[in-house]
Amino acid sequence: MALDSRKLSLYEQTRTTVYGINNLSLSVLPGDLDLAIANWLQDQDGALLRANADQLTERYRAGQSSARVDLAAYLTTRMPATYAAVRNVLGEVARVNPEFAPTSIVDVGAGPGTASWAALVEWPELSTVTMIETDARFVELAGGLAKSSALEALAKANIIRAKMNEAKAKADLVIAAYVFAELAEKDAGEAALKLWAQTENTLVIIEPGTPRGFTRIHAARQMLIKAGAHILGPCTHAALCPMRGNDWCHFTVRLARSREHMHAKQATVPFEDEPFSWIAVSRQPVPLVGARVIRPPEHDKHSMTFKICSEQGLADRVIARRDKAAYKQHRKTAWGDVV
Ligand SMILES: C[S@@+](CC[C@H](N)C(=O)[O-])C[C@H]1O[C@@H](n2cnc3c(N)ncnc32)[C@H](O)[C@@H]1O
Repeated sequence: MALDSRKLSLYEQTRTTVYGINNLSLSVLPGDLDLAIANWLQDQDGALLRANADQLTERYRAGQSSARVDLAAYLTTRMPATYAAVRNVLGEVARVNPEFAPTSIVDVGAGPGTASWAALVEWPELSTVTMIETDARFVELAGGLAKSSALEALAKANIIRAKMNEAKAKADLVIAAYVFAELAEKDAGEAALKLWAQTENTLVIIEPGTPRGFTRIHAARQMLIKAGAHILGPCTHAALCPMRGNDWCHFTVRLARSREHMHAKQATVPFEDEPFSWIAVSRQPVPLVGARVIRPPEHDKHSMTFKICSEQGLADRVIARRDKAAYKQHRKTAWGDVV
């Protein structure tokens, strides 16, 4: 799902560089957010940040909540990646449903406000931003960052300290990014239904692209379809999900690592690939076409093979090099694209 540069709003074009590597978007935070984070991180002790970043990784790997994560470590090592995943998904939602022009958003489990910032890049016409967040430290952080925004909607965002199941705010667009992982698996379906009731038009749920993240997406998908929601993606159909056994549906987005991130993670390469799973549904039926590529394409001397998911289930689509027209047409087809 490479970002289409024509779809980038002027807002983002003036503040960031987005360019492709291996057909994946290399996403960068908006300039005013970047600056606000840099100010927030001023005077951070490098060694402490490294230790806290390690702890944060271990906590999330162990399936623990954000309750005790270090905020500086989150801003440095996680927010750019969750932002990139949300940008990628919202770009795809806008591609599938170009008519969608939300004016209000509810961002649940907002953390530092990642999804709200990303949504305003896709839909600068958003005028009402509500963030729901349970942790007082994140509420304060999200408020501080939002106030630094050049956009009025963010600068005057309503940031509510509450659990997502207590919140009642409704909006055209409801986003839950990387928060279902902090709910018990058995609660994911009900939580999705609750968010659906708050959704005037489109609901987007994004999770880490891990088996744990996908089980929650899968539970949400089943409940939402039963409730009459129309799928926008990543599925190009509403049939039974064909993922079985140890398989899980996920995609990746490539993003640049900041100098601070490289330091904190002792990284040797200046980019990382963030795996994510997602589901987006709408109140209106939207025509879905084709099949989605759900693995990195495989190339050999004679052919390209795409693992695809469609209404007919999972399949391998092989395109022989000697089929020149088809080969040329699919040469740039990437993991996550619809064919
Ligand atoms: C991993 S962070 C994700 C933050 C942000 N959405 C992002 O994508 O960067 C999860 C956030 O959800 C919040 N959270 C966890 N459980 C919650 C709940 N039941 N209601 C509201 N917020 C919750 C946590 O405090 C944390 O800020």
